[in-house]
Amino acid sequence: VVLSNFGHKEHLFKFLVIGDYGVGKTALVRRYTEGKFSSNYKITIGADFAIKTLDWDPQTKINLQLWDIAGHERFGYMTRVYYKYAVAAALVFDISRAATFQSMKKWLNDLREKVALPDGSGIPVVLLANKCDISVAVTDEQISKFCRENKIHAWYATSAKNNTNVETAIRYLVDKVLSSR
Ligand code: GTP
Ligand code: MG
Repeated sequence: VVLSNFGHKEHLFKFLVIGDYGVGKTALVRRYTEGKFSSNYKITIGADFAIKTLDWDPQTKINLQLWDIAGHERFGYMTRVYYKYAVAAALVFDISRAATFQSMKKWLNDLREKVALPDGSGIPVVLLANKCDISVAVTDEQISKFCRENKIHAWYATSAKNNTNVETAIRYLVDKVLSSR
């Protein structure tokens, strides 16, 4: 936290966006930071990041760093490096491909094994059922059950294409991080 004049606060938060390849992580980050969407799939290699500055309230400015981790990295050894210093994470699956939902458990385990806050607790996580604009292969009940069983407190059906719940999901995480300080 940087305290500037008159008690204004400025934060730098690193958020992770993780999940299988092709689920829409890059598309969500691009939608959120640039307001754009492209239907072309350009695979992410390693990791990418984008920044967005939020005037959260008149006293609080947040520099949000979104780390977009390549789906293929789950099979690599680099996630530990990419996860370092993250304070929140969005776990993303493609609601039209059930296999990407099945992978959530592995991503979550990888995350919880490698990242913790200074007090040892886990970082806040939100689950995103992306591509809700196309056919649905995973039910709300399955998603809610997974969240209950894995202590994930919120999930959203999102669409990077139609800009559904993208901002809401990020705000949820920012709120969580701020309220824990
Ligand atoms: P990796 O970089 O390989 O890990 O994949 P990714 O998760 O970053 O996927 P990416 O954002 O590149 O999206 C993959 C494909 O899905 C692209 O063709 C996107 O245009 C498409 N896509 C992403 N989000 C949505 C969405 O909400 N709706 C629809 N219909 N298509 C989407
Ligand atoms: Mg990508």
